[in-house]
Amino acid sequence: MAEKATLTVGDKSYELPIVTGTENEKAIDISSLRASSGLITLDPGYKNTGSTSSAITFLDGEKGILRYRGYSIEDLAEKSSFLEVAYLLIYGNLPEKNDFETFKSEITHHTLIHEDIKSILDGFPSNSHPMGVLSSLVSSLTAFYPESLDPNRSAIGVDLSIKRLIAKLPTMAAWAFKNEIGHPVNYPDNRLDYCSNFLKMMFAVPSEDYEVDPVIANALDKLLILHADHEQNCSTSTVRIVGSSHASLYASIAAGISALWGPLHGGANQAVIEMLEGIKRDGGDVNKYMAKAKDKNDPFRLMGFGHRVYKNFDPRAKIIKKAADDVLDKLGIDDPVLEIAKGLEEIALRDEYFVERKLYPNVDFYSGIIYRALGIPTSMFTVMFALGRLPGWIAQWKEMRENKEPIGRPRQVYTGNQKVDFVPIDKR
Ligand code: SDX
Repeated sequence: MAEKATLTVGDKSYELPIVTGTENEKAIDISSLRASSGLITLDPGYKNTGSTSSAITFLDGEKGILRYRGYSIEDLAEKSSFLEVAYLLIYGNLPEKNDFETFKSEITHHTLIHEDIKSILDGFPSNSHPMGVLSSLVSSLTAFYPESLDPNRSAIGVDLSIKRLIAKLPTMAAWAFKNEIGHPVNYPDNRLDYCSNFLKMMFAVPSEDYEVDPVIANALDKLLILHADHEQNCSTSTVRIVGSSHASLYASIAAGISALWGPLHGGANQAVIEMLEGIKRDGGDVNKYMAKAKDKNDPFRLMGFGHRVYKNFDPRAKIIKKAADDVLDKLGIDDPVLEIAKGLEEIALRDEYFVERKLYPNVDFYSGIIYRALGIPTSMFTVMFALGRLPGWIAQWKEMRENKEPIGRPRQVYTGNQKVDFVPIDKR
């Protein structure tokens, strides 16, 4: 017997089916609610609302669990590689050796971007924030690959668009950085692996040899794995809703990059470092800033803390915190803001305000410290998040298209004027 919920409004009752997921999460299916009752639900920020069913990523916020296609984030971060995780998310299974070698080779041979993109890049003044440049360059791919605009393109055609984007995003990201600092761009070096190639495009300068430090490349690969997907977060929901109008993959991902930019979402990793540096400049008094974070009249928030889903430790934050210690130790770096971060965390984890609200460090709290140690500039932190999240966005967009989901179009409760008659301006 299928489980049902009963909604009683006045003297009427409505039965609604209960949907149960593979991890026994339960949801009330309200897709028939308005037709049967004339009612809609209201849930600003969708804190209690599921937008879709998905087989890609599972989170348990209470237990601090994160799995991609059933594989734990701890296992993947320790034993896999970013491109293998990208394959897993997008195609639904870990690749066999030959398939993976083919996948990697295809990615490697699509890393070059059209020379005309340089003209677009030249239109952005130096100091342009790389996230705005990146979103524009991704959108520009619709011009260089007009066939990608076809919403009902063949599966082979969609797969080519996917591989082009995974291959080209690091090149566009590195070029956005070079544009920001007014340096000449570097072309991809197809002899290198994904992360090493990105680092070389980011940091190589003319007339000098650039050797990639494997410690840095490996740390970056782990960070990209940790950011690869996270179910229906703000930017992924943006990618899905833009794609639901049958907009192209490139248009949908460009929108996702813009949504990620916000400081409450992916932009938090840049905001965390700016916050920690501000505390350091102000003398490093972590107690003063904890009091500000709890003061409702103070706009200061402890960036990198709190999460819509995790009401326990963000499992990614645990892995990144340990990786931060390892990387700084291996590189012989002593970063004072790491100690400030640990001091804030120590106080917050026993402070009633944070404990009561279940505010724990999230993925963004420590990631900036590693990026800094890897030599990544602060303005590029959210770009790194976008590089990591790309396969997740692609997998979610692909799932939405393959499931033929309807266009996303929420309803509303209207609170404006009732009907008013127009009064000509000379009679107002
Ligand atoms: C990411 O969704 C995802 O999965 C996102 C992400 C992903 O991988 O895609 O995990 C990546 O975006 C991580 C989050 C990065 N953002 C930040 O670190 C910004 C700081 N955090 C907050 O702005 C906040 O915690 C959010 C936005 C993350 C979550 O906000 P919610 O779920 O809407 O919660 P809320 O704002 O309603 O806060 C609940 C209470 C409030 O206090 P009361 O009104 O109940 O008294 O907690 C307080 C808030 O004031 N609060 C904080 C706080 N975060 C929440 N107080 C101080 N410092 C904070 N960081």
